[in-house]
Order: sequence, then structure tokens, then C-alpha cells
Amino acid sequence: MKVTVKVPATSANLGPGFDCLGIALPLYNEITVEETVMPGSGIEINIIDESDSYDILSIPKDENNLAYKAIELLYNFIGQTASDLKITIKTNIPVARGLGSSASVIVGGLVAANELLSKPADKALLLSIASEVEGHPDNVAPALFGGFCLSSLEEDGSVSYSKIEWPKNWKLTVLIPDYELDTKIARSVLPESIPIKDCAYNIRKSAMIIDAIYRKDSEMMKKAMKDKLHQPYREKLINGFKELNEFLANKDDILGCVISGAGPTILIVSENNGFEKVQNEIKQIFEDLNVSCDIRTYEAENEGTLVI
Ligand code: HSE
Repeated sequence: MKVTVKVPATSANLGPGFDCLGIALPLYNEITVEETVMPGSGIEINIIDESDSYDILSIPKDENNLAYKAIELLYNFIGQTASDLKITIKTNIPVARGLGSSASVIVGGLVAANELLSKPADKALLLSIASEVEGHPDNVAPALFGGFCLSSLEEDGSVSYSKIEWPKNWKLTVLIPDYELDTKIARSVLPESIPIKDCAYNIRKSAMIIDAIYRKDSEMMKKAMKDKLHQPYREKLINGFKELNEFLANKDDILGCVISGAGPTILIVSENNGFEKVQNEIKQIFEDLNVSCDIRTYEAENEGTLVI
């Protein structure tokens, strides 16, 4: 028996929500998990780059593969060992770009294996296992549930989460550069401690962003999509981020310009034709900086992981 699932890409943080906010995007990886015919043959992991444009060589094909690690935890939970499995990952989500590619394989492996085992785990347990493997829940929650999610990894390992309807006319544009940034490196540049005034800044912006999304209040959103916890430390790793923010300040219908996850992709939230009005100038900014990037505009993805 084999099960295939499709899992959306995600953009985490959304400005102030470091490690707790994220939104799903309609770009998918497909993960298939099947029992191998010959018992004792061990695990087999195949990676297929559907877009033929990403560096998939960095994805482990052994026990260190994140999908396998997550599946192993699920099997352990039911008192079994995960051996003799074949995992196939078809990637469409760019790797190491801040678009949740690792979250998608973790969630995909888990959901497919859970189906294969006749669903011993509920969604809450899947989310908790996925967050344990990923280290934080902000990508895995929207990858699993779709839409905009807030999530909190609790001290006991459980994850509290909530999905809030994302305003339909708020578009999500991602600027995906042609270079990778390992999340471990992007996290290593963050300081051990943050000045209390910067913490207070992010607390109020996080409260505001939830209210802005809930009430679909664009003016509140413009004030809320700001951050002093991670962006000031990471912006030196993200070509064009500073220049883009200076250019977009106070532009009509642009609600925010933030680092997507740990970067290097940049996320712009806009309404009406806000992005279209400035896209040529944005392309010019990147050309001047000699940065080539793929620009795509999406609506929020609302289904999350689906068995196909
Ligand atoms: N919240 C995470 C970070 C997302 O910013 O490091 C990347 O996995």
C-alpha cells in the first residue's frame, strides 16, 4: 500500500511573529510513503525535482532525512519501528529559500505515514511531532492546515494553534532569489538576548497583526508588519531587503515587506493592484543590485495537506 499527499509551501514570521505566525502558499511538494515489498530491505528515499531548477543534492537520502525522522517518531509513538519504507519526495518548493520546504517534507511524510498506519495520530499529535522535528511550529502549522495560522510550541511539547481567515484581497508576492540560505545560518546570526524595548515593540506589533487580519484592516496591517527580533540581524544576509523596504515605505496598497521565514525570499503583502504598480521599479532595484530573482504573486492557500 502507498499513500501520496500534497503539502503547500509556507511563509513564516510575517514580520513580528517570529516562530509563531505563518501562511500557506499554493505551491506544492508531493510526498509518497509506501511499504517496500521485501521486508528487511531498509529505507529508500528518492528525491525528484519537478521544476528541475533546485539544488536537491543537499537533501539527505538516509536516516537524516527530515520526513523519515518525523515518520520514525510516529512509528515510535505506536510502539513500532519505521523500517522497510520507501519515501518519494517530488519537490516544487524551492529548497533553503524561506518557503517551508523542510516543513513540507516533514508534514508530508507524517500525514502519509499516518494514513498508511490507519490514522493512529490526530492532527494535534501530528503538529506536535512535526514541530519537534522542525524546531518551531510556524511553518508546519499552515503546511498542515492551510491558510494563516498562529501557533505556540508549549513547554510540554504540545502546540496550541489557531487558523484565522486571511483577507481574500490581500495578495502575497514572493521574491525568490537564486541563492540559498540555510536556516541554521540565518538563526546563528540572531543574538542570545534582545533589548526589552525591542521585545515590547514586537509584542505590540504581534497583537496588532492578529487584530488587523481578523478585522481585515489594511491600515492596521501596514503598522503591524514590522519586526525588531530577527530582521535587523538577518537583513545583511538578504540582498535587496533594505533597499526594497526604503523604496516601498508609504507606497499605496503595500501592506508590508518582510523576510519570508529565515530568508532569503522576501514577502510583500499588497492589496488592489499595489504590487503591479511598483513591480517594474522593484525589478530595477534588483537588477541594479545584480540579484536575479523569481517573482510570483499568490493568494493564500487554504486547504493545507491533502491526501491525493
Ligand atoms: N521562524 C523560523 C525562523 C522560520 O525565522 O528562523 C524558518 O524556519
